[in-house]
Parts: sequence; C-alpha cells; structure tokens
Amino acid sequence: MAVALGLLVCTSCSASGGTATTHHRVLIGSAVSEAALANDATYRATLENNFSMVTPENEMKWDTIQPNPTTYNFGPADAIVTFARSHGMEVRGHTLVWHDQNPPWLTNGHFTRDQLIAILRDHIFTVVGHYRGQVAQWDVVNEALDDSGRLRHDIWYQVIGPSYIDMAFRFAHAADPKAKLFYNDTGAEGLGPKSDAVYRLVAGLKHRGVPIDGVGLQSHFVGLVGPSQAGAEANMVRLGTLGLQVAVTEMDVALVLPADSPALRTEARIYGYMLSACQQEPNCHTFVVWEFTDKYSWIPSAMPDFGAADLFDASMHPKPAFFTLLQDLGPHSDSLRG
Ligand code: XIL
Repeated sequence: MAVALGLLVCTSCSASGGTATTHHRVLIGSAVSEAALANDATYRATLENNFSMVTPENEMKWDTIQPNPTTYNFGPADAIVTFARSHGMEVRGHTLVWHDQNPPWLTNGHFTRDQLIAILRDHIFTVVGHYRGQVAQWDVVNEALDDSGRLRHDIWYQVIGPSYIDMAFRFAHAADPKAKLFYNDTGAEGLGPKSDAVYRLVAGLKHRGVPIDGVGLQSHFVGLVGPSQAGAEANMVRLGTLGLQVAVTEMDVALVLPADSPALRTEARIYGYMLSACQQEPNCHTFVVWEFTDKYSWIPSAMPDFGAADLFDASMHPKPAFFTLLQDLGPHSDSLRG
C-alpha cells in the first residue's frame, strides 16, 4: 500500500463557516505485538508504511516486563522500541500500573503498604528509566475506575489506598521528566457518568499538582454503538480546560461476525468521526488503534462471535475504515511517510 496515514500537518483544516481551526499534527499509531513484528514481513511493511507511532500491546505489562521480583525482561519491548526508532516512529508506553496482567508474585505477595510502595517505585523507576528519552508518552495508570466510575478495589487501592495514583505519576515524572504522562481508561470517550468520573479524578490530580499531561481515551467500541462525534469533542474540550492533552489510545470497533458491507461502512464512519474529533480539538495530537489488522486482533479471543475490528483485514488488505481515515487526514498525509 503506497498511501500512508503517517504524520499529519493539517494545513487545510477549516471549520464550517470558514473559520480556520488550529493547525496541528496528529500522530497515527497502532498497538503491535513483538511476535508478529518478528515473524510477519507483510505486517512489518504495512506498519512502517502507514503509521507514525507504536504501542507494545502486551510487552510492557507487568507480567511480561517484571515476571519475578528481581528479574526485568526488557527483550520483547526493546524489539518494538528499536523497530520504532529505526523507522522514525514514536512510542507510547503501556502500561505501568493496572489491575490486570500482573504476575502472581505481585498479586499473591501479601505485601505491607510500605513494601508495595517500594515495589511500585522500583518498577516505575526501572521501566521508565530504561526507556528514558525513547518513550514519548506513558500510560502511567490504566483503568483505575470501574464501569460505574468508582475506584477499583484492586491490589493498589486495597494495600496503598487511592494515593497510589499520585505516587505513580510522581515516580514516572522523576524517572523521565520529558515523557508525557497519561491516565488511560475505557468507556469514557463521550459524555456520561464514566467520563464524569475520569474528569473528577484527573481534575483532582491537577489540583494537587500531580504531574499528569493527558488522558487516554481507549475507544474500544462494540457493535455499531459509539459516542457521538459531538460528545467525544465535548469531552476532549472539557479535559482541555484542565490543561490536559487527550489521546485516542486503543481504538477498535468490534463487529458481529461475519461482518457485512453495511457494518464495515458504519465501522468506517465511527473510526472517521473519532479521528475528526481529534483533529478538531487543539489538545489532541495522538490517534492509536489497537492493532491495525484483523489478523492479530485481540477481539475474537476476548469476545467470541465478534471481530473485524481493525483497519486492515486478515489478509492485510485495507478496509473501508482505512480509506475513511486517509480521507480525513487529507492530501498532505502521504508526503510524510512511506
Ligand atoms: C489486551 C491485549 O490486546 C490482549 O492481547 C491481552 O490478552 C489482554 O489485554 N484495555 C487495555 C489493553 O488497556 O491493555 C488491553 O489489551 C485491551 C483493553
């Protein structure tokens, strides 16, 4: 595929009515897996021709990167970071603190509060320090809130208390003062109770002077239901009033299988309006999909009977959603990559 999503310099953006909007770049990224990068040449080529940012899909999660208390396993994530850097791509680090994909030694350790704080500190200093200057953005804390917007009663909350979130951001900032630090969550893209809770959480962090730079909007949409573009933009705007960036961090659209043409067109529309929302808002510079090809999507294993969630099909052919993003990006996108 010669066309490229790449970096956008939005020189032709204008709002309806002829008022020029803020011109800004949007990085177009994808979650990637180290195994696919190592074994699949078509995957590698499609990635480097079309994307300007990558996120390790699993390789920086705690169970992979610190499988034992005294062992750090940087190999898989290093392979992705090296690939990205050698192809001029930026890296989003994902993720430092989460309730899921933690190793048994951590979740079954029965640590005291002081011990767990020391473990958290060591993990963040070691991982962020290892990638200092190489990871542009970190998802520091992932999904601290449950679906109803309450703090999850995970190991971090139960042993350390809610201040684990402040600590994680402070540790990450100390380890790499130049990295942009994000709070990342799901189901908080449009306006609603969950995004209200995210707003309150990050407003509190800002109020306490915690070094947070942005909010990641995962954007895992199921079926043909997503937030409206207006709702997504309004949420981006209110986070902007706190002085925060926003990033679309994990977008995919799970469809009932087999996906027919109308479903693929609706999927394209949902991808399109999320990118348009990001392009409209001056605090959104990052748009990342959660894998770019249905060949390696997590959806069929997480949600049986669903799939076809990504921009390219399992044979690596671009789907309607790819062409919609390309159209949204405008004529300047393909001069910057490929
Ligand atoms: C998913 C991966 O894609 C899967 O391969 C893994 O088995 C489970 O995790 N929200 C997140 C991501 O923040 O880390 C998750 O990734 C998807 C949901």
